[in-house]
Amino acid sequence: GKVCLAYSGGLDTSVILAWLIEQGYDVVAFMANIGQEDDFAAAKKKALAIGAVKFVVVDVREEFVNKVLFPAIQVNAIYENVYLLGTALARPVIAKAQIAVAEQEGCFAVTHGCTGKGNDQVRFELSFYALKPDIKVITPWREPDFISRFAGRQDLIKYAVEKGIPVQQTAAKPWSTDENMAHISFEAGILEDPNHTPPKDMWKLTTDPLDAPDKPEDFSLEYKHGIPVKLTLADGTEITEPVELFLAANHLARRNGVGRIDIVENRFIGIKSRGCYETPGLTILRRCHVDLEGLTLDREVRAIRDSFVTPTYSRILYNGKYFTPEGEYVRTMIAPSQNTVNGVVRARCYKGSLSILGRYSTTEHLYDATESSMDELTGFEPRDATGFIAIQAIRIKKYGTAARKNGGS
Ligand code: ARG
Ligand code: SIN
Repeated sequence: GKVCLAYSGGLDTSVILAWLIEQGYDVVAFMANIGQEDDFAAAKKKALAIGAVKFVVVDVREEFVNKVLFPAIQVNAIYENVYLLGTALARPVIAKAQIAVAEQEGCFAVTHGCTGKGNDQVRFELSFYALKPDIKVITPWREPDFISRFAGRQDLIKYAVEKGIPVQQTAAKPWSTDENMAHISFEAGILEDPNHTPPKDMWKLTTDPLDAPDKPEDFSLEYKHGIPVKLTLADGTEITEPVELFLAANHLARRNGVGRIDIVENRFIGIKSRGCYETPGLTILRRCHVDLEGLTLDREVRAIRDSFVTPTYSRILYNGKYFTPEGEYVRTMIAPSQNTVNGVVRARCYKGSLSILGRYSTTEHLYDATESSMDELTGFEPRDATGFIAIQAIRIKKYGTAARKNGGS
């Protein structure tokens, strides 16, 4: 039968491709163009040379930006206070394209090269089953035959050489990566010691902040309903098309060293894992969005969104549950919180830092400078504050009386 393999052109999935053929399958090699810096033509040549019956690449960049990244910005998605979910955000889009290719090509199964200890296997497989419940999933890294034959990297290389698969002559980087338009991840290998500082040349997307230009770079971002609609650069260039805007935010952040992250996170399966990530454009687009919400979002809407919707949706994404009833439900809670989030944020990138310079709203004005002013008494009765505090204090005075009696605070 025919199977559809998520192929990358690298050593692991090339060996998997040859191994699947050895098991008697016809293999359709599938690649998603999700904005990673990959050589698709070279990957196609390699897959067909190994023996794939077909090579299919699907461009999912626009869907990734509009359907997944922009809503993630609207909700300020973040995992464990630090990780902007770069890999997790891409998985649903890739899985959906892979299932479509599998159906188109008449494949009875899909297969991937994720290891048996990670989040990605869960994300891919839960997405596959949601999108096509009767699909069969072949997981080489969990197959006893495969694992016993390929215990280490040397076994993979030996097998590749035997099969005539070209192996890159350059020494393997001592870590594993995953890249898309929003980010690149570095994990495993020498990074497994959480106290090992990554070497300077590991970072790929962003300039080292120490080497970034000595001149600050200012820009402004306009949002409508929490979605970035215009990026204006220092030279006056305006970018409005969603994919172009996202890419321009990437370039801006990359040349100024913005968006590096180094964390130890909790994987869904319960293992702690150290990851280094570069999330250039998304860091800027999310942070400026957070700022604009300060000016434009109602306090209680924000409190509910921050305490429930943001952490819940972030965990749903991280745990690979994009295509689930809860994923669908929580996604509907994002847009209604963004009706008033319209305006412009002016900001500055400088040697790895991002600072906000100012902001204004373009629609409803929840902020009233006169009302907030320390110098003005109009629009608000200061004497009402006396009553407000008195009522608030009823309960607190009881607490204070009891605390004093017990010798406490
Ligand atoms: N730890 C991150 C996450 O779970 C990054 C995973 C990277 N995946 C990979 N196949 N290299 O989202
Ligand atoms: C993998 O296991 O394939 C990468 C790491 C992860 O999925 O968390």
